[in-house]
Amino acid sequence: MDDNKARKNKTIKAWVHRHLNDTYVKGAQRNGYRSRAAYKLLEIDEQDHLFHNVKNVVDLGCAPGSWSQVAVDKVGEHGTVIGVDLLEIHPLHRLKFIHGDFTEQTTLDELLDAINHKPVDLVISDMAPNLSGIKNTDQARGAYLVELVLDFAKGYLKTGGNCLIKVFHGGEFDNLVKLSREMFEQVLIRKPDASRSSSSETYLLCKHKKHM
Ligand SMILES: C[S@@+](CC[C@H](N)C(=O)[O-])C[C@H]1O[C@@H](n2cnc3c(N)ncnc32)[C@H](O)[C@@H]1O
Repeated sequence: MDDNKARKNKTIKAWVHRHLNDTYVKGAQRNGYRSRAAYKLLEIDEQDHLFHNVKNVVDLGCAPGSWSQVAVDKVGEHGTVIGVDLLEIHPLHRLKFIHGDFTEQTTLDELLDAINHKPVDLVISDMAPNLSGIKNTDQARGAYLVELVLDFAKGYLKTGGNCLIKVFHGGEFDNLVKLSREMFEQVLIRKPDASRSSSSETYLLCKHKKHM
């Protein structure tokens, strides 16, 4: 085996070891969540009561579906959760799933039909772009997704509603916070314990959408 291959194997082994020993992975397995990401949303909800009085939710970038599992539980039987993702997911009871690219008009049209073109109570987005490895390109793609989420929220989040969006630290971060502050009374930055410290992801918690 050449040196490169050996190094790669070692990295993969270390990742598998870390993953299997991760408290949140174990918790997800025990509690039937599709991924450890569920704990990020649960933690933010515990602190910020994201789902308080929420009956309908749009979950952008929902695969494999752990945030949707949390959302479906929180809104209860009479609530609605609509999830969108590029990837297929295993069906989830009470989730209306739209398979498509959120950056495409056809997907947006399908989503708008699903919400009957009416404002929703909560928008959550855990979307992350496929990484190219080119820093500037990846940052621009990530920022574009956040802008699209804010644009959707502008049109289809109810006044006073909240929005939670994954954002990666980088060149566009301050601009995205500024943009959010134009639309929401309060914008907080959250880094739940379940989010690995090695990851540059954080969450913008945008509270109380202004009347627009
Ligand atoms: C970190 S995962 C989401 C995990 C999810 N919150 C959960 O708890 O299971 C990010 C997801 O964003 C999706 N995604 C990225 N870009 C997208 C786009 N343009 N349209 C729809 N989904 C997208 C990816 O396919 C991926 O499944």
